[in-house]
Amino acid sequence: MGKRKALIAGNWKMYTTVVDGCRLALDVANACSDFDDREVLIAPPFTILSEVAHVLADSKIIVASQNVCWAEKGAFTGEISPVMVKAAGGSAAIVGHSERRQIFGETDELINNRLKGSLAFGLLTILCIGETLSEREGGQTLTVLEDQLRKGLASLTATDMANVVVAYEPVWAIGTGKTASKEQAQEAHAFIREIIGEIFEKSIAEQTRILYGGSVKPSNIDELMAQIDIDGALVGGAALDAESFGRIINYK
Ligand code: PGA
Repeated sequence: MGKRKALIAGNWKMYTTVVDGCRLALDVANACSDFDDREVLIAPPFTILSEVAHVLADSKIIVASQNVCWAEKGAFTGEISPVMVKAAGGSAAIVGHSERRQIFGETDELINNRLKGSLAFGLLTILCIGETLSEREGGQTLTVLEDQLRKGLASLTATDMANVVVAYEPVWAIGTGKTASKEQAQEAHAFIREIIGEIFEKSIAEQTRILYGGSVKPSNIDELMAQIDIDGALVGGAALDAESFGRIINYK
């Protein structure tokens, strides 16, 4: 089995408007060396998806939406469809981010629908999962991860998995400055890979990229990426600074 291609993804959340977003995208593009062992993805806010995609048109950077609906079109106020993402120049989407789950009440079933719709229209899709602090302290981490994974990936086929990336993001580590230790992250990633192997088969699990997210920064990216089951990072805060994100992309 060849090594999985790494993926460094920047989630801009609800930050940036057109001028600073395009500037940031350009600076990130300039910070990317021409690697063939890693890919870079940026998820700007919906409102500047097409401008950012335009700025990045000559780069290899993948442009993603931060969420996506399952339907092509219809009466879904406030949503954006996979077709709209593609028309705006995007080719990927994030679903199930903990902020969607915690603040906006998105359930595993809803997220599974988003994932299936996103895949049906050919988007590379990052499914986020992760336990809260009280779940970790209560010893429920692995149970929660297994549950979110099984429900999130429900009714997907092995073929679908070629376009699925899983992001392990412990909720207690997001935006808090607290990173999971490399051992905690590796343990969770190995477990996630094992469950994917149970749901599909071992070879699918071996091919699936699993990203770590939660206070990833220039100072911890190298040790995280050195873990055998960590295939990349989903970066929030540090992705808003081209120098920091550039350093993360250029991890050693
Ligand atoms: P953070 O966010 O890097 O700011 O912790 C990560 C995320 O929410 O994807």
